[in-house]
Amino acid sequence: MRLNKFLSACGVASRRKCDEIISSGRVTVGGVVVSELGVEINEKKDVVAVDGVRVKLPQEFVYLKLNKPKGYVCSAKDEKGRKTIFDLVQSDVRLVNVGRLDYATEGLIFLTNDGDFANLVTHPRFHFEKEYHVTVEGEMKESELAVLRNGVVENGVRMPKAKVNFLGYDGKNTKLAVVIDEGQNHQVRRMFDCIGRTIVLLKRVRIGGVVLGGLSRGKTRPMTADEIAYFLQHRKNQTNEE
Ligand code: URA
Repeated sequence: MRLNKFLSACGVASRRKCDEIISSGRVTVGGVVVSELGVEINEKKDVVAVDGVRVKLPQEFVYLKLNKPKGYVCSAKDEKGRKTIFDLVQSDVRLVNVGRLDYATEGLIFLTNDGDFANLVTHPRFHFEKEYHVTVEGEMKESELAVLRNGVVENGVRMPKAKVNFLGYDGKNTKLAVVIDEGQNHQVRRMFDCIGRTIVLLKRVRIGGVVLGGLSRGKTRPMTADEIAYFLQHRKNQTNEE
C-alpha cells in the first residue's frame, strides 16, 4: 500500500495533507525517516510512526469491554479445566485479556488483539487507576479505612496507599469504593486479608477513564472510540515528553 494512503486510512489526515506530512520528514517506516513521496509499504509488517507516535489501521484491531462474572479464569486455557473468559466471547480474531481479575472477582476487563494497547493499559509507568466495589463482611470502622488509605503493612512491607470511600452498610456487609493505581497480584484481597476482613464480593467498576457502566454480567461490547482514545492519548503525551 502507498504510504500516503496508509496514513490517511489510519485517520492521520487527507491523502494530500499526508503527502505534506511525509515531505516534511515527520514520518518514519521501521524507524527510518521517509520523506519522498510514492513509497510503498507493507501495511501488515511495517511499523509506521508520525512524530514518533505509531499509527495503525483501525479496522485491524478489536477492543472489547467484558463484565467478567466470578467463576471464570482470565487465561486462554486452565489446567484445572475451569471456565475461561474466552468461553464468553465470540470473535473471529485471537484476543488477549488486558491484565487479570481473580477467579472470584467480577467486573470490567478489556480484551483486544492490539498488543501495544494491552501493554499500555497494564504498564506500571502510566498508573491508570483501577476502581473496585468491595463488599466486606460486617461493619467496618473508620479507623480501618484509615489503615487502608495509608497503605497496609504486609510482612513488614507497606503496600501502596489506596483511595477508600464508604458506600454503605446494610446491617450485614459494608460496601466500599477502593481505588488503586498499581496492579500487584491479588492486591485488594491482600489489603483486606492484612486487616483481618473477609471480602464477600470484589467487582472492578473502572479502569482509568473507562467505566463498566450498565454492561450485564458475562456480556461484551466494543469499546467506543473515546474510550480507546483515553488510553492512546496517554501514550502520545508520554512520547512527546521523551
Ligand atoms: N485485586 C485483587 O485482589 N483481585 C483482583 O481480581 C483484582 C484486584
